[in-house]
Amino acid sequence: MSKKLIVANWKMNPLTESEAKDITKGIAKAARKSQKTKVVICPPSIFLKTVQSGNRTKSFVTGLQNIHPDHQGSHTGEISADMARGMNVHYVITGHSERRAQGETDEEVNKKVHAILDAKMIPIICVGEHERDSDVSYLQFIQKQITFALKDLSDTQVKKCVIAYEPIWAIGAEEAMAGEDMHQMYIFIKKVVHDLYDERTAKKIQILYGGSVSPKNTEDILEQGHVDGLLIGRQSLYPENFGEIISIAEKMK
Ligand code: PGA
Repeated sequence: MSKKLIVANWKMNPLTESEAKDITKGIAKAARKSQKTKVVICPPSIFLKTVQSGNRTKSFVTGLQNIHPDHQGSHTGEISADMARGMNVHYVITGHSERRAQGETDEEVNKKVHAILDAKMIPIICVGEHERDSDVSYLQFIQKQITFALKDLSDTQVKKCVIAYEPIWAIGAEEAMAGEDMHQMYIFIKKVVHDLYDERTAKKIQILYGGSVSPKNTEDILEQGHVDGLLIGRQSLYPENFGEIISIAEKMK
């Protein structure tokens, strides 16, 4: 069985380097003995080095929250996938709904996925609907997001990808989606990948859940949802809670 992937998306937090150091210290301690989980911390890039320096026990690996799809050049304020890889970054989140809300398109997500894989990193591709409608057209929406994101990738490349299903209505909310409902989405996403590629590829691709994950709902999501891991926003800024989530994941069969 592969390890559960527990990904911290710090978003535009914390405010200071000293807080980033403290959170890192707490998470490094909590993740130190993890065996069944792989922890990924995605800080704001300005804190990348700080977070990496605090990882003396090699408790986690680092990721970024975004990259620019081009190799290098005149893109003020941007960071390329090759730069990230050169800084020991292993994962990159792409297509997060907060970035899509700022105009990131499916085509751009696809370009970024290519750039991330070409730079030998793993893309964490976020998909998720705004709301649920009774005629289940949200399934088509998710299918389209996945199809676009994986466009022109080989099956070998797709096997390396991670898809994070994050229903927008559950992000920054009070409650997460129920594990059972997540399981349906898990099956649906696997089916989409199966139809695009084949059974082996669908089996290999990892699927995470994200949206208001907390120590309270972790067991339900992992056990009933049968997901391969979690993408965690707010709670990843509280090492104690994040540590609890890791411990729960460690206890899973
Ligand atoms: P949340 O954020 O855990 O704070 O809901 C999740 C995300 O946006 O990745």
